[in-house]
Amino acid sequence: MSFDLLIENVNIATMVGDDYGVLAHYDIGVTGGRIIHLAPTSKPTPTRTWLTPGLIDCHTHLVYAGNRANEFEARLNGKTYQEISAAGGGILSTVAATRAASEDALLESAQNRLAQLCREGVTTVEVKSGYGLDFETESKMLRVAAELKGAKICRTLLAAHAVPSEFSGDKEGYVAYVANKMIPALASECDAVDAFCEGIAFSPTQTQLIFDAAKKFGLPVKLHADQLSDLGGAGLAADNHALSADHVEFTSEESVQRMKQSGTVAVLLPGAFYYLRETQKPPIDYFRKCGIPMAVATDHNPGTSPCLSLLLCMNMACVLFGLTPLEALQGVTKNAAKALGLEVEIGTVDLGKRADFALYEINHPRDLASKLGTNPCVGRYIGGVRQPD
Ligand code: NIG
Ligand code: FE
Repeated sequence: MSFDLLIENVNIATMVGDDYGVLAHYDIGVTGGRIIHLAPTSKPTPTRTWLTPGLIDCHTHLVYAGNRANEFEARLNGKTYQEISAAGGGILSTVAATRAASEDALLESAQNRLAQLCREGVTTVEVKSGYGLDFETESKMLRVAAELKGAKICRTLLAAHAVPSEFSGDKEGYVAYVANKMIPALASECDAVDAFCEGIAFSPTQTQLIFDAAKKFGLPVKLHADQLSDLGGAGLAADNHALSADHVEFTSEESVQRMKQSGTVAVLLPGAFYYLRETQKPPIDYFRKCGIPMAVATDHNPGTSPCLSLLLCMNMACVLFGLTPLEALQGVTKNAAKALGLEVEIGTVDLGKRADFALYEINHPRDLASKLGTNPCVGRYIGGVRQPD
């Protein structure tokens, strides 16, 4: 049998089933971008090369301009994230820088960040808008996301991220503008719609208006929910059949019950929790008890998680939130695929799936979440095509 690509004698963590799904000393064959052959190798020799599904970072804000290290410093001098935001810093300072930046400059900086993320074996990345908050800049951000090379990109419209200065004092007016103008005009440029439901951002009622507009265009929704307080965001997301509820530190058991009904994924963002020195942890035990799939993502953004290592976020999910290394790896493979609505295509190594995978020099896949600051990735394939290092 001949293939477009044949990799021989690797150990595979397929992530099929409830465990790592280990296939030791296997060959994997790809044709037409799909996995069509999985069989024990004919000449097994000792190997430390492991193949996993390509990692998926299902929540990032990768496109932006500016720098917010001043806010990190201000927080360590006693200010809170909410105070900085109320004083016009926070998201709005990145909005000003992103509006002023040229499309080429945005692309260059985002492309650099993507390259860093991918080095660790990432093959799919979700990228949000949300630092434009006007039609021109939101569409500029989505265009830049579409031009990124080196990973599969899923684009999310996050126009309801904050209230721009033009609508200062008129949150409702801005929500109407997003629902009636931005979503209709940008529906064909994105794969999903997101919002930030929080005291410093949008209320549940306003979030619902955004979701209603998204649904008119058949777009799936997701939500920044319950990060700093419990407004019932994850429950609201679930009631709207959201793909995911993200952050979820303050999510109540009642909201988790609603997530269970709808199959909504809990996306854990330990980088933001760590960087903001938060103390309220997501209800991991209750997620487990209810069988809620948990994903892990970097939430890369300049203000609350300037982190470009998904492996580090896996480790943080273990150390800070108590995930097991297996749960952390599920969180960046099959559960992250589900958070993007792509579980039929990617997230496991199985016959018929897209041939997106990563190669690591490790002893066991548990090593991926157990170490920090090292990068054991030695290869990356998208659709069966080896990616440049
Ligand atoms: O996911 N929570 C809201 N949005 C981002 C932070 C954005 C920012 O501060 O620039 C987040 O943490
Ligand atoms: Fe975010």
